Amino acid sequence: MRYGHFDVEADEYVIERPDVPVSWTNYLGTKNLCTVLSHNAGGYSYCRSSQQGRITRFRPNGVPLDRPGHYVYLRDDADGDVWSVSWQPVGKPLAADGVPDGAEYTAAHGLGYTRFESAYRGIRATQTVFVPLDDDVEVWDVVVHNDSDARRELTVAGYVEFSFHTITIDNENLQMSLYASGSSYADGIIEEDFHYEPWTFHFFASSRTPDSYDSLREEFVGPYRTEANPIAVERGHGSNRSGTTQNQCGALLHKVALEPGESARLVFLLGYGSRDAVGRAMRDKYADLATVDAERARLRAHWRAKQDRLRIRTPHEGMDTMINTWTLLQAETCVQWSRFASFVEVGGRNGLGFRDTAQDVMSVIHSNPTKTRQRILELLRAQTEAGYGLHLFDPAAFDPDAPRLPDVPSPTIVPTRSRGDLIHGLADTCSDDHLWLVPSVVEYVKETGDVAFLDEVVPFAEGTPATVYEHLLRAIDFSSAQVGENGVALGLRADWNDCLNLGGGQTALVTFLHAWAIRALLDVARPLGRADVGRLEAELERIATVADAELWDGEWWIRGYTRDGVTIGSAANEEGKIFLEHQAWPVIAGITTPERGRASMDAVRRLLGSRYGNHLNWPAFTKVDDTVGFVTRVYPGIKENAAIFSHPNAWPIIAEALLGRGDEAVAFYDAILPYHQNDNVEVRGAEPYAYVQFIYGRDHEQFGKAQNPWLTGTAGWMYTAVTKYVLGVRPGLDGLVVDPSIPRDWDGFEMQRVWRGATYTIEVRNPGHVSRGVVALEVDGAPQDPAAPIAPRPDGARVRVVATLG
Ligand code: GLC
Repeated sequence: MRYGHFDVEADEYVIERPDVPVSWTNYLGTKNLCTVLSHNAGGYSYCRSSQQGRITRFRPNGVPLDRPGHYVYLRDDADGDVWSVSWQPVGKPLAADGVPDGAEYTAAHGLGYTRFESAYRGIRATQTVFVPLDDDVEVWDVVVHNDSDARRELTVAGYVEFSFHTITIDNENLQMSLYASGSSYADGIIEEDFHYEPWTFHFFASSRTPDSYDSLREEFVGPYRTEANPIAVERGHGSNRSGTTQNQCGALLHKVALEPGESARLVFLLGYGSRDAVGRAMRDKYADLATVDAERARLRAHWRAKQDRLRIRTPHEGMDTMINTWTLLQAETCVQWSRFASFVEVGGRNGLGFRDTAQDVMSVIHSNPTKTRQRILELLRAQTEAGYGLHLFDPAAFDPDAPRLPDVPSPTIVPTRSRGDLIHGLADTCSDDHLWLVPSVVEYVKETGDVAFLDEVVPFAEGTPATVYEHLLRAIDFSSAQVGENGVALGLRADWNDCLNLGGGQTALVTFLHAWAIRALLDVARPLGRADVGRLEAELERIATVADAELWDGEWWIRGYTRDGVTIGSAANEEGKIFLEHQAWPVIAGITTPERGRASMDAVRRLLGSRYGNHLNWPAFTKVDDTVGFVTRVYPGIKENAAIFSHPNAWPIIAEALLGRGDEAVAFYDAILPYHQNDNVEVRGAEPYAYVQFIYGRDHEQFGKAQNPWLTGTAGWMYTAVTKYVLGVRPGLDGLVVDPSIPRDWDGFEMQRVWRGATYTIEVRNPGHVSRGVVALEVDGAPQDPAAPIAPRPDGARVRVVATLG
């Protein structure tokens, strides 16, 4: 069953039926203000921090779904009938269900905006919600149109429920949240203030002077009511009251009269800052509808410019739609907003996860070099002198330039933390965090050509300065020191798999990642003639020998050893015979033979594969064993215990591409591609335009159901897997490599790629229907050695490349 479709022309996903059984969300905002918004206008906003900068409230996992939200109500003043521009919160019966005179609803998620549309009893209305590029406001562009042949008198009411700015206090300590925030109304603007923290304000305004307002939730909604039937809307006017305690809201009610065929357009604004310092100026700015149009156009151009940095046209419609729009958006979202704000992760944590961020940045260097660089610097500052990364950290704590808020004496005593408290020791260290950063920095240098970045000085977490290159060496050296007698990497708290806790044992995954990171560093160290090349090469050789001797199980790679020396991920095991997440890395790191590479990928397909993607392990664990880890305490078929965990599904795609098996690579891609599940929503549940963290595995009765959308490394890795390995266009230090590995039945494909200021139009032809092997390469009409990278061109150049496979 389907609930919507991809509108490729408009770069929108259009929800045709709003009664999707779960929330389908979008992310608005590119700078400081972020809104997570569902297709029914439920959701919340925050400024900078989802933990400390909350603007609106959200009741996660509530009944009904998605409350509260950013709502526009409509009331027919002739008879008091009330509905909303988004289907919820009023939830009128749907015409789509065959209800006579039922309401029609659609919602469209686009790049940085969401539009709700309704048609009910002759009134058509739209509410387009977006966050402009440079202002910390959320704009609702509302148009109400009278399609009937009678004059209509309506009340149009915008409503948000404010949150105390710190989510933990908002949820846990109501004596602060209820009694320490207040609101006032002046000049048509509601301001929420936090009396003892006079630098935090929120406001709600509209382009016209409202006829009435409410800023106390209980006044607007009324006792024993919900957002579905607020008393103020039912009555047609607010109570015009504000106050210095209780639950604060912003509700502005307008009287609108429309002749037949007439429209009214008004704008609501939700923002961060005080009425005097920001609210009035923002209201005046966006009361000018031409400015609203201009800001929407700027936002569109912003996203289009990102898309234009890399566009593909292949015979695979789903791949084109996802890569050109949705996977790019999701990857950008993870880098911009990190991984703590969604409807599942509701913002109770702050800062960055080292491992996740270090991976996420790799995919959007071409589309967001500035943010990538900022994130890389934040990660480097959270790397310890010993070389490992701080698993979860607040970048502001290590940023000398981060703005410091005034220190208000609090009645609640919270122990003051010193820098030393923020740096954890080995007991809390993961064996992989730091390794992901090395290839990310190298990819950054290859993409931008900014070799000097390697010599920039950035302090370690302890404050000691070192060059970026030294940071990367420390990461490698830390892992070189953390090996057991057999040379296999020691398991620490965890590695990529949070639930496999091999402390005291050993991990094959980290052994392989270590090799991959060394190879990446060599890619820059060799051409730059760095002194460490020899020892890095020797270490790589050592790891290849260890992997070969210790970690091959016969048909696939073992996962490691527990602290008791028991092998896991081996055919000899009863449970957890094979794991997914490490199988691809010996190929990607270039430390194994093609035979073993192919055998391990075949085992993945045979034992872990399914129509929804590859399972993380098989068979699922059913017996608790803490020497293996928390995974043994998770229900079979869920999350890390034999679910289809999306993120590591990208790595076998890369391995298959590198093995030259384009058909197998794209088959792996297709299995887990959300796009293919558009008509299977009764099983999938989650958005067909976003990857999720995991899909229930075959051991679970909900096999195929997708959970925890948006905040996953999958998007970034899928983007990398497709663009750099299947389509095979990879920036190198001194040239662009074109080395596709595609399905044999493709006649070819095209990619437009901006690289270091020049635009490359790359056409790949596949007359012989092979997967891999460029036999002829033409650059601007001139034949070139097909094995040599294409040298960088001057800024602004347009370069035409034709590569022929054979
Ligand atoms: C979650 C974590 C990520 C981890 C993965 C597997 O997605 O954010 O860091 O690698 O789970 O356990």
